[in-house]
Amino acid sequence: MATFTRIEEGETSSISIHPSNKIAKIDDNIYGGFTEHMGRCIYGGIYDPGNPLSDENGFRKDVIDAFKELNVPVVRYPGGNFCATYNWLDGVGPRENRPSRPELAWIGTETNEFGTDEFMKWCEVVGTEPYICLNMGTGTLAEALGWLEYCNSDRNTYYANMRRKNGREKPYNVKYWALGNECWGAWQVEQMTKEDYAKKAYQWAKALKLLDPSITLILCGETGFSSWDYYVLKECVKWDVHGLGTESTTKSLIDMHSIHIYTASNEHLPNATAPRAAEHAIKMASSLIDLARIENKVPETVPRQKICFDEWNVWDPIRAPGEEGAEEKYTLSDALAVAVWLNAFIRQAKDVGMANIAQSVNVISPLMTTKDGLVKQTIWWPLLLFSKYMRGHTIALNVKAPEYGGQTKPRWIRAAIETPYLDCSATVGDDGFVNLAVANVHEENDYEVALDGLQADKVEVYVVSGDNVSVTNTDGAQKVGIKESSWDGKGKYTFGKHSFTLLRWKRA
Ligand code: AHR
Repeated sequence: MATFTRIEEGETSSISIHPSNKIAKIDDNIYGGFTEHMGRCIYGGIYDPGNPLSDENGFRKDVIDAFKELNVPVVRYPGGNFCATYNWLDGVGPRENRPSRPELAWIGTETNEFGTDEFMKWCEVVGTEPYICLNMGTGTLAEALGWLEYCNSDRNTYYANMRRKNGREKPYNVKYWALGNECWGAWQVEQMTKEDYAKKAYQWAKALKLLDPSITLILCGETGFSSWDYYVLKECVKWDVHGLGTESTTKSLIDMHSIHIYTASNEHLPNATAPRAAEHAIKMASSLIDLARIENKVPETVPRQKICFDEWNVWDPIRAPGEEGAEEKYTLSDALAVAVWLNAFIRQAKDVGMANIAQSVNVISPLMTTKDGLVKQTIWWPLLLFSKYMRGHTIALNVKAPEYGGQTKPRWIRAAIETPYLDCSATVGDDGFVNLAVANVHEENDYEVALDGLQADKVEVYVVSGDNVSVTNTDGAQKVGIKESSWDGKGKYTFGKHSFTLLRWKRA
């Protein structure tokens, strides 16, 4: 939570930091990833058999190291739009028996060389949790139940035994399951109306929880501020009509509500401030969750559903079309936008249970593989700093700074939420460090800022910047990275133009 006071250019900016005012616990899962059978994300991304950089499983070791460096806690799979025609049974068992199928989301061929067991193995090697998105397009409830049984059951039953036969004795215990992906979208195979989806999702949720009550089920929302979101929440966030619980049961059928937003503009300031729309979307979705609970009289003993922002990033599908693999080349402007995105998740930590950057490798990604190595795009660097340091609790902040007053994308941002030049969030970590994240999105102005509440004589400084907002890391040179230094904490601190800065000090 941060409050903002607008001042004029030339007045003194300040940031008041209140380390003892903890606002909310930050869920580590906001640093989640996403790997879809799309473009070069799986094949040629995380899985590249025959490449000298891969291990005996065909997994790219450099990619695994990057995931470990980012400390990615959870990874969504196998899509995305890909889910809507995917049959998980095609991707298990001996490879020579796995069928190749036409792939309809991105118009390709799916060889099924990489499937559930490979993904689970990869998650184990990386040290991350799997999050599976179910096929609610061509898929049936019977197939979904079979997949859940295959992954999670330790009983002497058909699909659990199939898993054993395929070499895995112990269940994988996949905790996170999504009830379809973007089922509202015109691009979906089996696009649904909100009425059809809500009815189906509720029945699927009931059956899935009968089979495994321990799972966390994620409802398919839209942007967080649509009639779809309102309707599906109202119909599915219910209590005690499903016959699975009593008033004392602490779980509901639906545990989280998924929303997706991609931001982008070819102009720097609309681009860098666009994620403020996503922050407002979190607030609106959170109100719709409250509304559903109030209207459906869900007792307060049932934990409040959180938002699962399971696709977010900077992406312009015209610039980088999905059918061509969506290989976005990110600029410094995009890196600043990503910092604003991540600030939003920190500020709204109370409501965000998970967030997954879309995607994690090659497809609209911070990380690009080549045959002989990895390119870390501009957006990798703020993401790395956030994931390393911005954990623990969100703390209270007041920011006094000038505000960008031009056009926004989307336009409604202007009336709904402020767009300060200094976009900030702060945390106090379990290690006792205070962390202040500041994106100065101004292209020309440095800001000299009084930091009230900073009491330290040694401040670690990490800065991500570059020559101008258009520079990229994709033309053979790393023009954007992290510059580390230290500061004695005295006087004001100057946040340079078009930069992201993370200041970190031990709490007094
Ligand atoms: O992440 C790329 C695509 O964007 C996903 O497959 C889909 O869910 C969204 O439209």
